[in-house]
Amino acid sequence: MTNLVTGVILLLLSIAGTVVAGRDFIGDFLRLPLDASRFLHRSDDDEVGGTKWAVLIAGSNGYWNYRHQADVCHAYQLLRSGGLKEENIVVFMYDDIAFDVENPRPGVIINHPQGSDVYKGVPKDYTGEDVNVNNFFAAILGDKSAITGGSGKVVNSGPNDHIFIYYTDHGGPGILGMPTYPYLYADDLIDVLKKKHALGSYKKLVFYLEACESGSIFEGLLPEGLNIYATTASNAEESSWGTYCPGEYPSPPPEYETCLGDLYSVAWMEDSDIHNLRTENLHQQYEVVKKRTISGDSFYGSHVMQYGDIGLSKDSLFAYLGTNPANDNFTFVDENSLQPPAKAVNQRDADLVHFWYKYSKAPEGSARKVQAQKEFVEAMSHRMHIDNSVKLIGKLLFGIERGLEVLSAVRAAGQPLVDDWKCLKKMVRTFETHCGSLSQYGMKHMRSLANICNAGIQTEQMAEASAQACVSIPTSRWSSVQKGFSA
Ligand SMILES: *[C@@H]1O[C@H](CO)[C@@H](O)[C@H](O)[C@H]1NC(C)=O
Repeated sequence: MTNLVTGVILLLLSIAGTVVAGRDFIGDFLRLPLDASRFLHRSDDDEVGGTKWAVLIAGSNGYWNYRHQADVCHAYQLLRSGGLKEENIVVFMYDDIAFDVENPRPGVIINHPQGSDVYKGVPKDYTGEDVNVNNFFAAILGDKSAITGGSGKVVNSGPNDHIFIYYTDHGGPGILGMPTYPYLYADDLIDVLKKKHALGSYKKLVFYLEACESGSIFEGLLPEGLNIYATTASNAEESSWGTYCPGEYPSPPPEYETCLGDLYSVAWMEDSDIHNLRTENLHQQYEVVKKRTISGDSFYGSHVMQYGDIGLSKDSLFAYLGTNPANDNFTFVDENSLQPPAKAVNQRDADLVHFWYKYSKAPEGSARKVQAQKEFVEAMSHRMHIDNSVKLIGKLLFGIERGLEVLSAVRAAGQPLVDDWKCLKKMVRTFETHCGSLSQYGMKHMRSLANICNAGIQTEQMAEASAQACVSIPTSRWSSVQKGFSA
């Protein structure tokens, strides 16, 4: 146990290690009091024709994932300031952050170290267990009858309407997280978008996606011709990054032991917050966000990608996000964009950062310290168990020499992760039956499971290898027996 804790501490120190200082961050930018938008609100829908709709979704829960719901609340305020109506914005958030005991400002959520509250006024369309794949798809499709729970609000759009979808959470190759099981698979999402297009119920659709390996959701999957333009926080084979994390510059206020935002997400929102969006188009924002998210030449950062009908990016942001009249005189020029922060935290390690700061700041001998230690030891044990099980299965299936090579192979750009998505979902289930839930962290192994399918392995072979690799299902809270399967 002691060795494990020491190992964890070493790991955390390396995560929190100081790299790249000396880059200035322009932190003070214009932020309107939230209520001002109500007075300044005016509807510009007529200028682009049709109605502007939005779906905003945070796919996680837990205080260590504070940043995803903070991102979504911020996006909501931005769209309202831009003139979108509440009835046209569908919000999915678990809603366990604002009043979590760990939140130093009860009832308040911030998305920037000096930011004001972004939680106030956010509609609770879908919270808790109602944040699920079924409701998310039904909301996009405008299919009220398929919704369970929640407010019943859906994108009831027509052929002249513009739709903006923004998703932020953890992910893995071909998969996006949800606070409930199952997770969201790329093939199902693409099917829903095709269906929406076939319904003829939008003119154009823009999708902004933040997650690890988020490029894999569209790579080789989103065809042209659907009038959909998507950008993602990362390419298909790298993680995305949390920002405003403890120990970074800029840091959250000292009482926050969690990251306040995600790098790509705050990049597009802080850019949109300050400009007259009639003077900035999607492509210009893509360039700005790309520059900020790659974080200069730093190790901390990811490659923002674009997919689908790239031609749509000539459209002004206004067509999708509206614009805040207070920014009317703030025309977009390349020079007035925000600089990247000096550091960021790999999304997959952000929970460890939270447990670490909780642990290190708790008084010696306190129950809180013991609790925090237990939390990160549990998280680390789970990681090791999942990593080792996947590796061992690879060796059992493909031999000691070739195992890791087959599991980690990356297909050429433009190719989807896997050809047979049913197979992938079956492999996930088989793995989880024997080895326990992949959970948030384990999503990183989706490429290995996809490669097992691509290599033509049958479910029975996978079941046998999994049973050998995992003698018993872990009894921890990660157990798939308790919580169900992610596929
Ligand atoms: C923009 O500039 C004009 C001319 O100087 C001024 O009348 C107007 O109030 C300004 N608008 C805003 C929102 O600041």
